[in-house]
Amino acid sequence: MNTYNRLPVSFVRGKGACLFDAAGRRYLDWTSGIAVNCLGHAYEPLVRAAREQAEKCLHVCNYYDAEAATAFAEKLVAAAGMKAVFLANSGAEANEGACKIARKYSLKKYGEGRHTIVTLRGSFHGRTITTLAATGQDALHRDFGPFTEGFVYVPCGDIEALNKAMDRRTVAGLLIEAVQGEGGVVPQSEAFIKAAAAFCAERDILLMFDEIQCGLGRTGTFLACRGYGVEPDVVTMAKGLCGGIPVGAVMAGEKATDVFQPGDHGSTFGGNLLAAACGIVVLDTVNRPEFLAEIVRKGDKILGAIRLWNLPAVTDVRGKGLMAGVDIAGDAHEVMEEALKQGLLILTAGKQTLRFLPPYIISDREIDEGLRILKGILEKR
Ligand SMILES: Cc1ncc(COP(=O)(O)O)c(C=O)c1O
Repeated sequence: MNTYNRLPVSFVRGKGACLFDAAGRRYLDWTSGIAVNCLGHAYEPLVRAAREQAEKCLHVCNYYDAEAATAFAEKLVAAAGMKAVFLANSGAEANEGACKIARKYSLKKYGEGRHTIVTLRGSFHGRTITTLAATGQDALHRDFGPFTEGFVYVPCGDIEALNKAMDRRTVAGLLIEAVQGEGGVVPQSEAFIKAAAAFCAERDILLMFDEIQCGLGRTGTFLACRGYGVEPDVVTMAKGLCGGIPVGAVMAGEKATDVFQPGDHGSTFGGNLLAAACGIVVLDTVNRPEFLAEIVRKGDKILGAIRLWNLPAVTDVRGKGLMAGVDIAGDAHEVMEEALKQGLLILTAGKQTLRFLPPYIISDREIDEGLRILKGILEKR
């Protein structure tokens, strides 16, 4: 279907931080397939794990326990510092799970009428009817109504508006991206996240972090919310968690661990063994202090270099780790197209923001190369 405005390129293979078209032309990938290929392309340990798991068994239904799925689930929960996980197939599905957990938690404890979920303006939580409703962007609320009811939006950083919206009689959960991705690479302020956590604790509202784009070490801590020193009740992950195989995960902390009971939730492919085997490699690779420190160093290198250019076309530079946003004076899409012509793949987030989500394994040489291309383009604007 005609759902994507495709760029004029077609890829046949990848290696590390590069993709190649059929003619063998090399492109530097600063997108990671929108935060998916966190270990780059054709990462040997990931390829090996996928092959070995495919030779053993690709899938068993969730009526049975299976070694790879259990091992992945245990590692994930330990890495995130959570208590339990439900495995699904996408970010939207993980966020649906989070909404269900918040609503059931509240219903069982407080009865009917306390089902509202507060989210932020500019947020992005998915494309299903419910996760679109959770998404705080009016432009995405056209054409597909009626949406699931019970979502209200608060501007990022507005602690007073949040305080007002977080009504203990009607609100079940608060769903936040610690760093908004699609909304323009917007890190929340520490004061805002701390206030949000305090309101949640005081009013028994579940504090839920959508870590689908900003989690998995991308901002330098395994969960971005941990960088703010708060304790989440629910966390969702997806995208890069299995290095390129579809996955979604909704995790629960102490409060929400036992909300789902048999029959409450399910998914045919959730906990798929191919995904799980790959996920184990991703977790073993990424969740190490020295690896996370490298993400921060590389991210600082990118952000620092762009700030130093001090170019008139650049109006703001922000981000955390390898999640970078650069506001420019003109049309971000034009810059993305020009970068593609010059062999650099980048993303946009909104009309005037360039977004960079390189794979974690990107080399310093590849960072320098991408920066050179970008500088050449932005200097001319
Ligand atoms: C923060 C966030 N939440 C949810 C989603 C939806 O994930 P998926 O496309 O896997 O359903 C995305 C996708 O971009 C995202 O960035």
